[in-house]
Amino acid sequence: MKKLIRYGVSIDKELQDKVDALLEKKGYKNRSEAIRDLFREKLISEAHEDKSSLGMGTISIVYDHHIPELSSKLTEIQHDLQDIVIASTHVHIDHHNCMEVIMVKGVLAQLEQLANRLSVVKGVKTGKLTIAY
Ligand code: NI
Repeated sequence: MKKLIRYGVSIDKELQDKVDALLEKKGYKNRSEAIRDLFREKLISEAHEDKSSLGMGTISIVYDHHIPELSSKLTEIQHDLQDIVIASTHVHIDHHNCMEVIMVKGVLAQLEQLANRLSVVKGVKTGKLTIAY
């Protein structure tokens, strides 16, 4: 079992009240878990400053599937970078629009490259890379 360290933190009441309201809204049962999550999140985002580091996440794109060749262009781009694509899910949103969520793992610079290449294809309405870890 990991050794636990306890320490006190000085904080002005006004700031703590705001933080407590946020923690309650988010559903935290205590401050310790919230602080641990905050530290973990910060450490991960610091590690991701280095674009040569490894990460994993999702690329979500929304596009109009009626645009000729668009679906095949998107598939072709994913095949070009197949080493980083783990899986993808396609959802038909309405008559025109489709959403694709592509799970990716690899060097961050490459994940960004794939997200950018997909996002700039004509007919893609939104494209977003979310790094989860
Ligand atoms: Ni569809």
